[in-house]
Amino acid sequence: MDLKGKVAVVTGSGRGIGREIAVYLARHGATVVVNVKKRIEEGNETLAEVKKYSDGMMVQADVSSRSGAKLLADQTRRQYGRCDILINNAGLGIGMPFLECDDRLIEKMISSNYLSAVYCTQEFSEIMPEGSSIIMMASFAGIRPMMYLSLYGSLKAAIMKLTEYLALELRSRRIRVNALAPSIVKTKMGESLLDYLHMTEEEYASKHTLTSSIIYPEEIAGAIGFLLESPNITGQTLVIDSGQSLMGDLFM
Ligand SMILES: NC(=O)c1ccc[n+]([C@@H]2O[C@H](COP(=O)([O-])OP(=O)(O)OC[C@H]3O[C@@H](n4cnc5c(N)ncnc54)[C@H](OP(=O)(O)O)[C@@H]3O)[C@@H](O)[C@H]2O)c1
Repeated sequence: MDLKGKVAVVTGSGRGIGREIAVYLARHGATVVVNVKKRIEEGNETLAEVKKYSDGMMVQADVSSRSGAKLLADQTRRQYGRCDILINNAGLGIGMPFLECDDRLIEKMISSNYLSAVYCTQEFSEIMPEGSSIIMMASFAGIRPMMYLSLYGSLKAAIMKLTEYLALELRSRRIRVNALAPSIVKTKMGESLLDYLHMTEEEYASKHTLTSSIIYPEEIAGAIGFLLESPNITGQTLVIDSGQSLMGDLFM
């Protein structure tokens, strides 16, 4: 895959899946805009990795707000004039019994997991040329319910439906829109979910997957590459779940 001359923006790329995607895209030649909410050091670490392969910059902006998404798009426009690949990766995975979720948490979950993708897609669409791609980070929790992930899972389900709607609407601009729905990925978020479930990675892999393995961020980055390279895939969600969907109900 040759992404030379393309500009990619990866929201929430200070660590975890976002960092892996940012570095992967740089390795394939893209200029990469790294984005963090607060942790500038993590963003700088990702940027240093990106710069081993390509050009890039880091923008601190909270994309769960309209102003943050606009800031990220404005800085990208000013520096590079365009965005060919938008990865709506930023998200917040908090498990909590539904009846204990207070208004602050509800609003934070909605803005971090859903509105961030809405705001970024709107703000970036003006600088996305024909042939561009948008990829959303959904989750397997949006496909099969998992205990105490009611807000997170239902918002990820909304992201998958939004992906279909946007694929329809943005086809007039020749922009493809797809999503990825991974099960547990080995990142800070994935590890905190396993802690919450009092389960080790080994237990999860051996008892709840068909592949005997947790997912590594590298595999998610590779799936992003596959979607970018597939001109006739749009409006789809690619599920990467270690076979978990065939394993009965986990976390019930
Ligand atoms: N790990 C999994 O098991 C898993 C499974 C399925 C789907 N996913 C999805 O994959 C995506 C990445 O997850 P991850 O595991 O890499 O999570 P992670 O390790 O928690 O990293 C998330 C990154 O996103 C940033 N971020 C969060 N909200 C942001 C905002 N409003 N503006 C800008 N940056 C923001 C975080 O920065 P701060 O620390 O500053 O907040 C952090 O750098 C998320 O959408 C997640 O829901 C993860």
